[in-house]
Amino acid sequence: MPGTTPLTRCPVVPVVVIDDAAQALPLGRALLAGGIDVVEITLRTSAGLDAIRALRALPDLQVCAGSVLVPDQVDQVVDAGAEFVVSPGLSRGVLERSRALGVPALPGVATASDLMVAVELGLTEVKFFPAGLLGGPAAIRALAAPFTGVSFMPSGGVNQDNMAEYLALPAVPAVSGSWMVEPALLAAGRWDDVTERSAAAIERAAK
Ligand code: 3PG
Repeated sequence: MPGTTPLTRCPVVPVVVIDDAAQALPLGRALLAGGIDVVEITLRTSAGLDAIRALRALPDLQVCAGSVLVPDQVDQVVDAGAEFVVSPGLSRGVLERSRALGVPALPGVATASDLMVAVELGLTEVKFFPAGLLGGPAAIRALAAPFTGVSFMPSGGVNQDNMAEYLALPAVPAVSGSWMVEPALLAAGRWDDVTERSAAAIERAAK
């Protein structure tokens, strides 16, 4: 679905920390089998870029690069094939480089001041990170009131048990987190478990 953002495409965005790029394809297939067609591959490990590259083989999966901290990494992830640039915080440099390369950016915000900068920079979608520590759904409800027109993707401490509380907010079209793709599942090749957790998350999101 070209033109869709991670927020409007799928209500659940898995955040992946991958140690071995060879895990990327089975992981991607496991997510798709569970009904999730977006993935955020973080640059927290050296395998991240190669994993993004490998996932080009799955055109049905929208691949976002995550934990993008500096402008040079934007060049690297776009070269690898990432369709979105996700960051834990708001960096003008990352945003400008993403725009220059024609790739949408989804920066993180944590405060009203961050949101004011985001709005000034023309953003209408942000990641809210780390959501649980910042006050969870109540914090988003409070922040969304003055920032009408901004959509939030909470991440950090979101899980199968609390995701519905976030998605119940009109300003939250999608949540993200690592619970479907825990590194231990990847390391053990437990792809059926990834599919099962993905399907459970999609089912919960639909309620
Ligand atoms: C992120 O980068 O969005 C978070 O690290 C995901 O947080 P979680 O591991 O608590 O889901």
